[in-house]
Amino acid sequence: MASYGSFASLYDVLMDDFDYVAWSGYIQRILSKNGIDHGIILEMACGTGSLTKELLDLGYRVDGFDLSEEMLAVAQNKLSKNKKLRLFNMDMTEFKMDRKYQAIVAACDSINYILSESSLKETFRRAYDHLDDGGLLIFDINSEYKLREILGNNIFLEDRDEVFYTWENQFDEDTDICNFYLTFFHSNDGENYKRFDEVHREKVYSIETIINLLRDVGFVEIEKYEAFVFEDVKKESERINFVAKKK
Ligand SMILES: C[S@@+](CC[C@H](N)C(=O)[O-])C[C@H]1O[C@@H](n2cnc3c(N)ncnc32)[C@H](O)[C@@H]1O
Repeated sequence: MASYGSFASLYDVLMDDFDYVAWSGYIQRILSKNGIDHGIILEMACGTGSLTKELLDLGYRVDGFDLSEEMLAVAQNKLSKNKKLRLFNMDMTEFKMDRKYQAIVAACDSINYILSESSLKETFRRAYDHLDDGGLLIFDINSEYKLREILGNNIFLEDRDEVFYTWENQFDEDTDICNFYLTFFHSNDGENYKRFDEVHREKVYSIETIINLLRDVGFVEIEKYEAFVFEDVKKESERINFVAKKK
């Protein structure tokens, strides 16, 4: 069963508690600390383009891509008039662009959707190859603590006017993959509800594994923070932000 198919039309509604303005501001601070004050960013797994929009508003040019055509269609709708943007339908594990970038970004645990270490290493290798010297790869992951202890083997429900959904999770100890079984009931009129189902999978990556894979492909300077601040990762950090610099 596909992920980010019909769900794409509800993604922005259900993400309305995510502060993409603050998120882009955080990325801008990281870029600024590294002397990158303008230029062109590649956003991998850009989804519906919410972060993309904020990066464009900050003055960057953005090339974005995503695996889901449905997510890209929402992004296209939202951002089609912007001349500083190009969107592509591509897979992070095998992307190839026609230029290099000062920064590559993958936000909101998109990296956890890569389900094997070999594919993740290939993604990092391609990111490295697409960066200028001194360029940055910036991404966040859902932590092992969050996927195992908070999301894993739990059930969540949300009841809103236009959508009711259940989110039933199963953590597979053999693969370290958290399977999310999502069932949505969506209504445009508050009376007639249409059901659809999706399965999403996110893999646990330890900090050590991520750092080793980044080093394997050539990144030397690697930093990790509690996401949205510049503090050390804690045992119960839920989102961890990595910054890897190409020498
Ligand atoms: C949690 S959403 C995040 C979207 C967006 N980055 C944001 O911040 O709202 C994860 C996104 O990763 C995309 N994705 C998953 N696997 C991918 C892959 N292998 N290559 C490209 N995009 C992928 C999905 O289609 C989805 O849009």
